Order: sequence, then C-alpha cells, then structure tokens
Amino acid sequence: MKIGILGTGMVGVAISSKLIQLGHEVKMGSRTAVNEKATEWVKQNGPKASHGTFKDAADFGEIVFNCTAGAVSLEALKMAGAESLNGKILIDVSNPMDFSKGLPPTLIPSLGITTSLGEEIQKAYPEAKVVKTLNTMYCDTMVNASLLPGDHDVFVCGNDTEAKARVKEILTDWFGWKSIVDLGDITTSKATEMVALAGMYFFGLKGSPMYNLKLVM
Ligand SMILES: NC(=O)c1ccc[n+]([C@@H]2O[C@H](COP(=O)([O-])OP(=O)(O)OC[C@H]3O[C@@H](n4cnc5c(N)ncnc54)[C@H](OP(=O)(O)O)[C@@H]3O)[C@@H](O)[C@H]2O)c1
Repeated sequence: MKIGILGTGMVGVAISSKLIQLGHEVKMGSRTAVNEKATEWVKQNGPKASHGTFKDAADFGEIVFNCTAGAVSLEALKMAGAESLNGKILIDVSNPMDFSKGLPPTLIPSLGITTSLGEEIQKAYPEAKVVKTLNTMYCDTMVNASLLPGDHDVFVCGNDTEAKARVKEILTDWFGWKSIVDLGDITTSKATEMVALAGMYFFGLKGSPMYNLKLVM
C-alpha cells in the first residue's frame, strides 16, 4: 500500500522504516523536497522509499500519518493541503507540546487544554478521517508493541467508525498491538495528549522512554 508520512523526525523515521520492512511504499514529507534527513532515510531504505514535500507525501499516501512537531502541525498540514487529505485516513501521532522553556514541556494552552490538536486538525480538515493514536508512547514502541513486556495499551480516538476499525487492524497486524482502547470520538484526543504530557514525567522517573500504561478497570 502507498503511505505518506508527514515528518522527518524520529517518529517519521521509525514509522516509515517499519512500513518499508512490511513491504509498503512510503513517501516521507517535509517542508522542502531536499530535506537532508529524508534524503538519508531514502538512501538507507531502498526502492520503495521516496521523499518530497508535505504535499507530495500527502498526495502519495492512501493513508497519511501526521508525525510533525505538534506546535506546528497545523502549519505543516496547511502545506500538505486539504485536497491532498480529503477522504483519507489521517493518523495523528502528534502532541501539542511546548519545549521552549526546556524539560519537562507544557501543553500549548491554545491547543492542548480546552481543546486538543487532534480536534483542531479534524476541524481544519473536515473531509479527512482523523484518527488520533500512538501518541502516548515512545516511537520505537509505537511500531513494535512487544518491545515492552506484558499487556499494555494504545488509545484510539476519532469520529469515523470505519476509519477507526481500519486503524485498529493496522495497529494489530502491522505494529503488534494486542490491547487497543477506543476512547470515543476525536474530542477524547484531549485525554491522550495529556497522557503524553504525563509520559514526560514517567520518562524522568525511569530515565528512559521505555514505559507505557495499562488501564485496569
Ligand atoms: N519522539 C517520540 O517518541 C514521540 C512519541 C509520541 C508522540 N510524538 C509526537 O510525534 C511528533 C513528531 O515527533 P518527532 O520527535 O519525530 O519530530 P519533531 O522534531 O517534533 O517534528 C519534526 C517535524 O516537524 C516539522 N516542522 C518543524 N517546524 C516546522 C514548521 N515551522 N512548520 C512546519 N513543519 C515544521 C519538521 O519539518 P522538516 O521535515 O521540514 O524539518 C519535521 O518534519 C511530535 O508531535 C511529537 O510530540 C513523539
């Protein structure tokens, strides 16, 4: 399948590389068509890997992942353009964190407190099927749930039931997730973005990003 990855950071690289390993065609997008990290990633990942602008990647993908810095995801998606996203599943992995005052970060008030980045993306692109997921764990764990022992959870939030069902298949079949917690519509992104912020403190406690949560009810 053809997949567009918006983002050249560690998340974009982790997801893109896993998808190539699984046999998919992946185009990684950035602000420019000559991004050094994307060029290097393509060199290392063979003929099914390509790169271009955010718009090139969004046009290419039958499914698109948003792996851009949360503070600027809305700008990055504007560069991709609504016509390139309309009708597609847009898997949103981003978190609206402000690292400008160092660690730990805070949530950006206009995006992460009374609303969420997931909701704002869905509002800005009403024809895209936004599914927020994978934003509450480290990028290596996102694409390989078995890196952590035992049973642990990934959350899914979104308005479109069919899109969420497809994303749940992807989480299970491609990334090995066994425990998927469907929190509800896209407004529940608020909770997962706050969990992601809590994760920055878990990182501090453990001294490593290799942690996740298990919901016990
Ligand atoms: N790191 C993790 O393990 C982890 C875990 C959970 C969730 N997340 C979330 O996943 C997302 C990606 O994280 P990351 O660490 O891989 O990368 P990142 O450094 O947060 O983001 C890199 C991407 O943001 C784009 N970007 C930066 N400034 C921009 C601007 N002014 N306008 C448009 N785009 C801009 C960059 O574009 P260029 O390619 O052009 O440079 C690049 O593609 C973040 O939202 C993060 O909160 C990360």
